[in-house]
Amino acid sequence: MILVTGMSGYIGSHTAVALLKAGKDIVGFDNFYNSSFEAVKAVESLSGRSFPFYEADLRDIDSMERIFKEHNIDAVVHFAGLKAVGESVAKPLFYYENNICGTVNLLKLMEKYGVMRFVFSSSATVYGEPKSVPINEDFPLSTTNPYGSTKLYIEGILKDMCKANKEFSVALLRYFNPIGAHESGLIGENPNGIPNNLMPRICQTAKGIMKSLTVFGDDYPTPDGTGVRDYIHVCDLADGHIAALDKIEKDTGVHIYNLGTGKGYSVYDLIHTFARVNGVEVPYTVCPRRPGDVPEMYSDPSKAKAELGWEARLGLEDMCRSSWSFIKDK
Ligand code: NAD
Ligand code: WQD
Repeated sequence: MILVTGMSGYIGSHTAVALLKAGKDIVGFDNFYNSSFEAVKAVESLSGRSFPFYEADLRDIDSMERIFKEHNIDAVVHFAGLKAVGESVAKPLFYYENNICGTVNLLKLMEKYGVMRFVFSSSATVYGEPKSVPINEDFPLSTTNPYGSTKLYIEGILKDMCKANKEFSVALLRYFNPIGAHESGLIGENPNGIPNNLMPRICQTAKGIMKSLTVFGDDYPTPDGTGVRDYIHVCDLADGHIAALDKIEKDTGVHIYNLGTGKGYSVYDLIHTFARVNGVEVPYTVCPRRPGDVPEMYSDPSKAKAELGWEARLGLEDMCRSSWSFIKDK
């Protein structure tokens, strides 16, 4: 049985569908801070399978312990966490307590119940301001905000756990920029309030909720002057977790992988592809650069291909089309 934390969230719900479709048994939990029970029902209907689900909180160890008592858990896939960079700067303790203390609580329970396998949602944010691209897993690590620090600290905690216990096995999955949605349109990303990330903001502009998209700088040293990122379809990302679970079942210790496509697309690439494939207008205004942004970030995903047999399949058009079909009528 695989425990999926943060299961009703954006990446958790897509991964739950992929795990269930691959024949794995799962139990999920979430505190619904940034999601709702609707996603749990959608996962059941998309996979055609039912599974146990709990409302529980990483910060409340008793709420999680019920799950460990009631199920024979072999591995944990850990998505639960807070992820808004700007909010983490304003409320660092909220982030440190939820993400770091919460993960320590989860690890204590794993130790108590003898669960030895862990897949962690890390982030390309741990590469800080990379000196060059493409970025491989051996690049130096640093962070520029409390959210990123929580990812880096948790990576360190997990490395220490593996040193202390030779039976422990961990996959640190460093996601690049996940976008897109399940082809059914039943699950996807629907952030509360004003989103920070590019794709949700393009969607809000196309819907007319935002009058005009703000392009943060067109004077970067990139082909069209706008920022370049490695956007990856959330369904490809979900499959990466299945491959990582297989790997850590075979090999103990720490295994680190970039999950990206290896391709860089600019802000203009995203805007224009989105408008074209969906037949919508995305008005935009060029503004000054956003503080803290780097010009260009994309992965070298070759280690995941070589060791996990995993690579991204879906392209930018699929990402733009599926994002829109999920959100357009919401
Ligand atoms: P999300 O907010 O949609 O999902 C996270 C889920 O965790 C939410 O459903 C939320 O309610 C839940 N949660 C938060 N705190 C909790 C707590 N204390 N107890 C129980 N549940 C809690 O975010 P996502 O995009 O699906 O991200 C999943 C993971 O991937 C996060 O750890 C995030 O940091 C990481 N990540 C995301 C991105 C991205 O751009 N989406 C990139 C890199 C890494
Ligand atoms: C992408 C590009 C912006 C909004 C963030 C986190 C990172 C990770 C993913 C979790 C940049 C430009 C954006 C807008 C714009 N999350 N942009 N107008 O900054 O690469 O990464 O999300 O781990 O930690 O930092 O993603 O989507 O915010 O920005 O021009 O309204 O779009 O400048 O070039 P980012 P993003």
